[in-house]
Amino acid sequence: MTVLRLIIPLAAALALGTAATASPRTDYMLRCMGCHLPDGAETPGKVPPLKGHVAKFLAADGGRAYLVQVPGTRQSALSNAAVADLLNWLVRNFDAADVPADFVPYTEAEIAQLRPHRLPDVAAERARLLKSIGEKN
Ligand code: HEC
Repeated sequence: MTVLRLIIPLAAALALGTAATASPRTDYMLRCMGCHLPDGAETPGKVPPLKGHVAKFLAADGGRAYLVQVPGTRQSALSNAAVADLLNWLVRNFDAADVPADFVPYTEAEIAQLRPHRLPDVAAERARLLKSIGEKN
């Protein structure tokens, strides 16, 4: 009986967790935080910073697509709608200061259009984008 009292709420919580209404913050915690850390900090030489950095890509030609096509986003098990919500949350949560004033939020349709395209060379595309906006890293 005691065990059931524990299991039933747990099952309910898991069912909720997989619903389409999971928050971007929860999606980040479950699928991104393992590499990007709770605060989006850099792991030097391994994982670049999201904090104070990620929205800078939005100023580069092709940067908006890059944030969708980078493997961590593109290959996540999230739906296109959840990816749109997650990226809209991510750029504001970790790098609000660099979100362009005219930023138009990602939509499910835009994610669906961009996501199938695999970047042939992620590092090269990243370097090209950063160079184009005068960022070193
Ligand atoms: C296994 C580790 C790992 C996981 C998990 C991961 N990422 Fe990443 N992420 C990286 C690495 C490494 C890069 C740098 C580009 C590359 O080599 O893929 C990156 C780059 C990015 C970038 C572009 C920032 C930049 O400076 O290049 C975004 C946006 C991003 N990830 C979002 C996400 C999101 C959203 C999730 C969760 C759905 C996620 N990542 C999960 C490792 C990870």
